[in-house]
Amino acid sequence: MDFPNFKPDNKSLLKKYLSEAVFRKLINKKTTLGYTLSQAINSGLVNHDSGIGVYAGDEESYDIFSDLLDPIIEDYHGFRKEDNHQSNLSLADLELENPDAGGEYILSTRIRVGRNLKGFPLGSMISDVERKEVADKVKNALSLLEGDLSGNYYSLKNMSDTVKEEMINDHFLFKQGDRFMEASGLNRNWPEGRGIFHNHKKDFLVWVNEEDQMRIIAMQTGADIKSVFQRLATALEQLEKELVFSYIDRLGYISSCPTNLGTAMRASVHISLPQLSNNKELLEEITKNNHLQIRGVHGEHSESKDAIFDISNQRRLGVTEVEAVKDLYRGVVELIRVEKSLE
Ligand code: ADP
Ligand code: ARG
Repeated sequence: MDFPNFKPDNKSLLKKYLSEAVFRKLINKKTTLGYTLSQAINSGLVNHDSGIGVYAGDEESYDIFSDLLDPIIEDYHGFRKEDNHQSNLSLADLELENPDAGGEYILSTRIRVGRNLKGFPLGSMISDVERKEVADKVKNALSLLEGDLSGNYYSLKNMSDTVKEEMINDHFLFKQGDRFMEASGLNRNWPEGRGIFHNHKKDFLVWVNEEDQMRIIAMQTGADIKSVFQRLATALEQLEKELVFSYIDRLGYISSCPTNLGTAMRASVHISLPQLSNNKELLEEITKNNHLQIRGVHGEHSESKDAIFDISNQRRLGVTEVEAVKDLYRGVVELIRVEKSLE
């Protein structure tokens, strides 16, 4: 493989940090399981509009390809090579109030974490047999959840198109055919081994074998961030009794995409901001200053509609889970304050 020819308008972190020297140093390297640089960067090469452009194939990718991945990680999370990640899911440390007690701005709150199982390759390199093994282990652990968390697993293969569409529109289920994942190998043998678990109230859900082997999600209408966080923390505690997650001291929880390392947590609100939607520069300034990201109402790579935005923490690594949620809280309080002042 030759050094790639990036288009001038390519804004990916892959282009920014893949110098010819780094490329030459890494092009013949492989992880023990056989993941190569060309696999790691294929998605970014195929998709010129990538923001990041790389995926890991296993835990060891983050070590073997660190000359490329460390600068990408630092750029995205502000986490340096010499930093260490710390986890804190203690509700006692999450002192915050409902940021929208009157229910005027925030429609719903969702917190998800990504998890992968120790001892298995990540999704871009996992074999069909291993993917099924992961699904079986996860299904078993989910079947042991207790109380309000208990629910059922639905395999994607057996789900009708109507139900799928309904679940996607209601923000419960992952979309299909993501071209970034496709080019990284994450969609191989779709829909085999993929599915969703949810409890009766659909306020606790788990995606199985999408971008990460598990996306563990708590969500509900309104802005009671603490309740959502508590439900997620309780679920994680129960699941960790059955499953061993891929975790390394420096980088925290290991994920397919470097943006999801560390806490692997995205805490988001759907928030209505009609004034700020007419003042995008100010909206972007406030979110940037508060380490927040703006997505559309149907998640990543979607547009906002009717002035409703998906606002979430950008940093997931080098902050604890509690701090990541506080990033969201502080930013949302500021957004509501400014929105009110413009009314
Ligand atoms: P992820 O959050 O797993 O990184 P996406 O950005 O694609 O992936 O979001 C997944 C789904 O979750 C989408 O349907 C999105 O609209 C929904 N979602 C995200 N945040 C919220 C929220 N606060 N309330 C309701 N749905 C949400
Ligand atoms: N690979 C895509 C890109 O570079 C997505 C990156 C972040 N999102 C994610 N779902 N991992 O734009």
